[in-house]
Amino acid sequence: MAQTARHDAWQAGDSYEQYMGRWSRQVAPRFLDWLNLSGGLDWLDVGCGTGALSSVIMAQYSPKSLCAIDPSEGFLGRAQASLPDGRVTFALGDAQALPFDDASKDVVVSALVLNFVADRTRALTEMKRVARVGGTIGFYVWDYPGGGVEFMHAFWRAATALDPAAADLTEDKRFPFCTRNGLIDLAKRAGLASVAFTSIEVATVFSDFEDYWRPFTLGAGPAPGYCVSLAPAARRRLQQKLQEDLSAHTGGSIHFKARALAVRAMSD
Ligand SMILES: C[S@@+](CC[C@H](N)C(=O)[O-])C[C@H]1O[C@@H](n2cnc3c(N)ncnc32)[C@H](O)[C@@H]1O
Repeated sequence: MAQTARHDAWQAGDSYEQYMGRWSRQVAPRFLDWLNLSGGLDWLDVGCGTGALSSVIMAQYSPKSLCAIDPSEGFLGRAQASLPDGRVTFALGDAQALPFDDASKDVVVSALVLNFVADRTRALTEMKRVARVGGTIGFYVWDYPGGGVEFMHAFWRAATALDPAAADLTEDKRFPFCTRNGLIDLAKRAGLASVAFTSIEVATVFSDFEDYWRPFTLGAGPAPGYCVSLAPAARRRLQQKLQEDLSAHTGGSIHFKARALAVRAMSD
């Protein structure tokens, strides 16, 4: 594991939901609308996490079947508990070696995963392999290099002001390919055809500072992983700095935006 990835903790489903799942759930329906697909299809959700994308597929796209894979048992357990439906199967799995036959799915999707996969060209090649000819492959990641995840950006700005070494851990530094051109290049390298791109912006509103801060203290994800690695005094300093930085948000709640970048392509 790269040193910068040492805080990428994916175990506790409830903690992840509070930190990121709740925002991915807002992007998911808009991403799926953009894919513009009919019902009765065989779907695969790669890196399903706690089920943000899977739950919308089930609620709005009447799939014939949905397989959802993730390497995290904790996340899979939470996703499974929230989707008790005979059409859905969950399995442990790695995007780089999908445990499915060639040409066995109509739609292969993935949300907020590819940047965490070591060999992402291979992951996309795998997604293409399991898609049927004419099938759809789609994914989204956050616009990290464009400062598109404002609540995370605010966290790292405060963290690096107190601890300059944390600069190497920020997602914009770790995932510079998460741009329009970077994602289109990646899709083309994996041999995908008819590549289309869009961006999807959602409001990330925190009811108060506690609602903003608490998910960072739960340890699920890179920034929370960094936060819980700090000694108590350093963590308190970070909390205080953030509280000061965010004091300009008036009326109690804290309003940020988050922008996802999405790619849709076809398997030929
Ligand atoms: C930010 S979460 C996204 C989860 C979910 N798709 C969502 O939108 O909320 C990243 C997910 O990628 C998963 N993951 C990390 N490495 C992976 C890999 N090599 N193959 C598949 N999933 C992976 C993690 O376990 C985690 O569930």
